Amino acid sequence: MNILITGGAGYIGSHTIIQLLEQGYENLYSIDNYLNSSESTYQKIEEITGKKVIFFDIDLTDKASTETFFELNQIAVVIHFAALKSVPDSVNMPLEYYGNNINSLLNILSGAESNGVEKIIFSSSCSVYGNPEKLPVSEETPFGKAESPYASTKQMGENILKDFAKKNKEIEVISLRYFNPVGAHTSGVIGEPFTKRPNNLVPIITQTAAKLRKKITVFGSNYNTSDGSCIRDYIHVDDIANAHIKAINFKNKENLNYSVFNLGTGKGTSVLEIIKAFEKINNITLNYTIGKRRLGDVEAIYAENTVARSALNWTPTRDLETMVKSAWRWQQNM
Ligand code: NAD
Ligand code: WQD
Repeated sequence: MNILITGGAGYIGSHTIIQLLEQGYENLYSIDNYLNSSESTYQKIEEITGKKVIFFDIDLTDKASTETFFELNQIAVVIHFAALKSVPDSVNMPLEYYGNNINSLLNILSGAESNGVEKIIFSSSCSVYGNPEKLPVSEETPFGKAESPYASTKQMGENILKDFAKKNKEIEVISLRYFNPVGAHTSGVIGEPFTKRPNNLVPIITQTAAKLRKKITVFGSNYNTSDGSCIRDYIHVDDIANAHIKAINFKNKENLNYSVFNLGTGKGTSVLEIIKAFEKINNITLNYTIGKRRLGDVEAIYAENTVARSALNWTPTRDLETMVKSAWRWQQNM
């Protein structure tokens, strides 16, 4: 069975490839154009697993190259990670975000429907829920107001896939809504690629600990939460990766070929809690101050994950300690 992993050199894609290789999947094809990653990731994957991935430097927004790839390789399963993912960049460059994320998806679907693909697994995001009224959010919770062009691309992506699945009944389509993926592979060899200006909390924490940044600003301490800081559902990247293996083996029993699953732990953690957990577990004092609220931030969000647990037979197993420990190990090895 040939499996295409788009964005395979990226953060979640690389961790998923490692698990696929470790579980005996062969014939893995990765497509990436290294917009936010590097080709050297494949050497690290080989270092960890002793196995090779076949990789292609293709921009998925290039329709002709993408379709030719599908014509030449008999792909059974597509795991589509490739996308631009920075929320603030998407506000500053909406056309680039819509252009990249939507055109890539359309080209993949066009290649898939004409070339016998059996399953498509899509990286969606909890950002589709916007600012939810009721917690936890379940797959039944309707889409909220998209807080950014990035979030819009995920809502649009899911809508496109739903319509695609209606027409292509023989293709099983799955959208996985990730909550806040953090942490890194236990080896310390692979993790989230370094960026000079990270937007996400955990890379900001690890860069501060490594003295690459002066301090962390906690965005708001007057939210209606236990300690006043925002609440998120942080989930280890290896638990997210594992759900993709489960999704490969999933068949919807209700004769529907489109399914959606929340990938979160089901547990909310505040910004201050994660900072304190990092300090305690890694024995490091972090320099942080309380700042203003960040525009567009949701007060609290965490997942109802019982559908993913039962239908995918998936259990997230890595706790907060493993998340912050592995994130720090990766930062030190970067
Ligand atoms: P990442 O940036 O590390 O990986 C994405 C990869 O896609 C990169 O290697 C990039 O070079 C590649 N890529 C982007 N556009 C491409 C194109 N046109 N052609 C070929 N390759 C292209 O991101 P990630 O954290 O691994 O995220 C993977 C997916 O999960 C994305 O779709 C993202 O939106 C989604 N997601 C991520 C998070 C998160 O916090 N990391 C949360 C929810 C959803
Ligand atoms: C987490 C918490 C911040 C930085 C985004 C996307 C979401 C998904 C994950 C892709 C928030 C606080 C952060 C800092 C802080 N990605 N924070 N100081 O915003 O929950 O989600 O990434 O799909 O779609 O929206 O993640 O890591 O940016 O923030 O206090 O310097 O940390 O306010 O409460 P977020 P994040």
